[in-house]
Amino acid sequence: MAQYSEKHSLIVKIAFIAILGCVGLTQAVTLEVKDGNSTCIKAELSAALSIQYIVTNGTRTATLPIPDSATVGSSSSCGGDGRAPLLVAAFRSSHSLSLSFSSNGSLYRVDNLTLEYNLSDSTTFPGSSATGLVTVSTASTGILAGINTTYRCVSASPLSLGGGGVTVTFSNVRMEAYMPGADLSLNETICTADQGVTTPSLPTTTIPKSSAPTTAPEPTPPGNPERGNYSVTNSNGTACLLARMGLQLNLTYTSSSQNKTIQQLVNLHPNQTKNTGSCEPTRAVLMLMEENTNLSFSFVLNSTTSKYHLSGINVSAAWPDMTQPFSGSNGSLEYLRGTLGRSYMCSAEQTLSVVPEFSLNTFQLQVQPFGVTGDQFGAAEECQLDEDNMLIPIIVGAALAGLVLIVLIAYLIGRKRSHAGYQTI
Ligand SMILES: *[C@@H]1O[C@H](CO)[C@@H](O)[C@H](O)[C@H]1NC(C)=O
Ligand SMILES: *[C@@H]1O[C@H](CO)[C@@H](O)[C@H](O)[C@H]1NC(C)=O
Ligand SMILES: *[C@@H]1O[C@H](CO)[C@@H](O)[C@H](O)[C@H]1NC(C)=O
Ligand SMILES: *[C@@H]1O[C@H](CO)[C@@H](O)[C@H](O)[C@H]1NC(C)=O
Ligand SMILES: *[C@@H]1O[C@H](CO)[C@@H](O)[C@H](O)[C@H]1NC(C)=O
Ligand SMILES: *[C@@H]1O[C@H](CO)[C@@H](O)[C@H](O)[C@H]1NC(C)=O
Ligand SMILES: *[C@@H]1O[C@H](CO)[C@@H](O)[C@H](O)[C@H]1NC(C)=O
Ligand SMILES: *[C@@H]1O[C@H](CO)[C@@H](O)[C@H](O)[C@H]1NC(C)=O
Ligand SMILES: *[C@@H]1O[C@H](CO)[C@@H](O)[C@H](O)[C@H]1NC(C)=O
Ligand SMILES: *[C@@H]1O[C@H](CO)[C@@H](O)[C@H](O)[C@H]1NC(C)=O
Ligand SMILES: *[C@@H]1O[C@H](CO)[C@@H](O)[C@H](O)[C@H]1NC(C)=O
Ligand SMILES: *[C@@H]1O[C@H](CO)[C@@H](O)[C@H](O)[C@H]1NC(C)=O
Repeated sequence: MAQYSEKHSLIVKIAFIAILGCVGLTQAVTLEVKDGNSTCIKAELSAALSIQYIVTNGTRTATLPIPDSATVGSSSSCGGDGRAPLLVAAFRSSHSLSLSFSSNGSLYRVDNLTLEYNLSDSTTFPGSSATGLVTVSTASTGILAGINTTYRCVSASPLSLGGGGVTVTFSNVRMEAYMPGADLSLNETICTADQGVTTPSLPTTTIPKSSAPTTAPEPTPPGNPERGNYSVTNSNGTACLLARMGLQLNLTYTSSSQNKTIQQLVNLHPNQTKNTGSCEPTRAVLMLMEENTNLSFSFVLNSTTSKYHLSGINVSAAWPDMTQPFSGSNGSLEYLRGTLGRSYMCSAEQTLSVVPEFSLNTFQLQVQPFGVTGDQFGAAEECQLDEDNMLIPIIVGAALAGLVLIVLIAYLIGRKRSHAGYQTI
């Protein structure tokens, strides 16, 4: 429950708004729930939604912000009579995000975050195979603050709803429930994500909108990516999918600063990447989320042949220099083929082409999407590239040995001939 300097917080906010303004993806909304004249919940926040849905081809990802035109839904309430205080943000006529609060007298928390979206809205979900309302929720939001304090979280914190496929990323949040007055309390509870962040890297003056220095494109190639460890766990806490790899995105997009199409390599930073996912008997999904980049990998298992492969990759990226956010997906891939109970390994660099504008380079990869036991990789099956790489020293060695043998034989024959020559004379 630290008190946060107002000036500092303002600088952070200005920097954030400037960056977000460039991205144009996330919008800030202010929502207020009242009971008569008294305010009980107030929230200023940005939220980005990423929703995977089914199309005839496979899956697609819709990414959208909660727009600043969002309104407080009529089912919002201050609670009482056995009901929990509820904040509902309604947007695009038939979608809503609800936060339900609870308190034990000294702390309050969001104990249910529910997203309701309407797949019939073809502007948001073009090509969706299904229609109608879908409701997903999570009880673990990590949003927790002392009573009579404002919950503050500038950092982007992605939350996975409904077992993967839907991600809600909050950022720049100032929010309070059970409010003692009409305005947000000056005392703040700072979220753990912000406590780890040291802000000196943020510029201390307002950033001009045309140049956001913190995230300008890297002009030089980024070098090999760092290797990250990712895992997906079952409801009972055991790992069901393991992955260890370095990832590099190769993306072609229209740069707003250069006003032309550019091709850029960007490494994923494991220490800034969050991962979630889901495991089903014949389908497993790994989602990786960095600040403004989301990647999801779908693996399928053919239970008759006991072989698995990577069948789909979804990417969405909202980089500051993009004229518009990029998203791409391909659900008919056949990469990383392995056998149930074993892991697939490829130390050599591999290129996974997804769509014409996007490919993914993998480095030192080892994955096992099915049949993981004891939180450990099963025996590894090496990729062809690695086997070829191992073949080279073998071939060179064999060639050298052959050469030595030829020289030796030639020498022996030569010696025998000259002996025979002497004898005939
Ligand atoms: C709300 O405030 C207005 C003016 O401030 C007052 O006239 C009205 O009676 C109040 N309503 C309630 C329910 O307190
Ligand atoms: C599959 O997806 C691609 C691009 O996403 C689209 O051009 C194509 O028409 C789709 N095919 C079918 C059969 O839906
Ligand atoms: C879902 O969207 C469709 C098309 O926009 C609309 O007709 C329908 O009433 C919406 N359903 C709900 C429950 O809002
Ligand atoms: C409320 O919950 C927190 C942790 O969940 C606990 O530390 C605190 O003592 C509780 N307060 C009351 C009044 O029960
Ligand atoms: C959250 O609330 C909704 C609506 O009340 C309910 O259907 C859902 O099961 C709840 N989710 C969790 C994880 O508690
Ligand atoms: C919160 O503030 C209200 C009004 O100022 C006060 O009555 C209440 O005791 C405070 N609660 C705590 C836990 O500080
Ligand atoms: C955990 O759950 C999975 C299926 O959800 C099951 O196969 C596995 O045996 C369980 N592990 C333990 C230790 O209970
Ligand atoms: C990135 O993609 C482009 C276009 O597909 C390709 O020409 C280029 O070689 C790729 N670069 C790397 C390092 O993979
Ligand atoms: C961007 O380029 C297009 C044509 O390539 C040109 O028409 C347009 O004026 C340029 N915009 C800016 C802001 O330079
Ligand atoms: C992440 O790792 C890189 C390289 O190891 C390091 O420079 C950077 O400071 C780290 N960032 C965080 C937030 O830990
Ligand atoms: C599994 O593989 C077999 C043999 O390749 C194929 O005939 C079958 O259609 C596959 N099953 C699924 C569900 O893909
Ligand atoms: C998806 O990947 C397959 C196999 O790599 C490729 O043939 C196909 O063109 C890709 N689809 C799109 C829409 O790029």
